[in-house]
Amino acid sequence: MTVHNLAETNSVLNHFISEIRDLEIQKDSMRFRRNIERIGEILSYEMSQKLSFRSKTVQTPLGEKNVSIVSEKLVLCSVLRAGLPLHQGVLNYFDQIENAFISAYRKHTTTEDFDIKVEYLASPSLEGKTVILADPMLATGSSLVAVLKALKNMGNIKQIHIVSVIAAREGVEFVAKHFPENSHLWVATIDADLNSKGYIVPGLGDAGDLAFGEKI
Ligand code: URA
Repeated sequence: MTVHNLAETNSVLNHFISEIRDLEIQKDSMRFRRNIERIGEILSYEMSQKLSFRSKTVQTPLGEKNVSIVSEKLVLCSVLRAGLPLHQGVLNYFDQIENAFISAYRKHTTTEDFDIKVEYLASPSLEGKTVILADPMLATGSSLVAVLKALKNMGNIKQIHIVSVIAAREGVEFVAKHFPENSHLWVATIDADLNSKGYIVPGLGDAGDLAFGEKI
């Protein structure tokens, strides 16, 4: 797996990341969702550079022009529910993309231990397609590995691009061990630690709750 950590280059992306981490700004859930969406747009642009392109002739009012357009069959799969604002960001740039949704949640066995439960998957065939997997918080990496297992039942995937907002170093290593060699991870930033409950530190807290409110 090739890891692209976009925080290594200074850009306006870092402003959005600083806002989603900030306790005060987090109180505005609309701004939180919109920032995640904007990060999804930037990750999409960066990722697009590794896709396959074909040439096409476009007729303008004044003549013809040869242009390059994406030639791959793309499916965007998001992990519910925190993935939804990131999903919208990717959709803003790949407007003809097919869509899949999957649920992956932590079922706690004790306060600190949990299993990942995948209970819902709505997906088109993935045969020969490139999958963009949107999961904003790559913490332990175990949800993404459970998601990959479920997606394998939907056809032979050509290639996977994971888009993520904040990842923990440990999670990146775990995912790299389980995903195919030709996969790419596009991540806005990587944090050093995970706490005993599997949350990214310093991270930002619970992305699903910040976007959509607390759950019981
Ligand atoms: N999911 C989140 O929302 N935050 C984390 O830190 C880890 C998983």
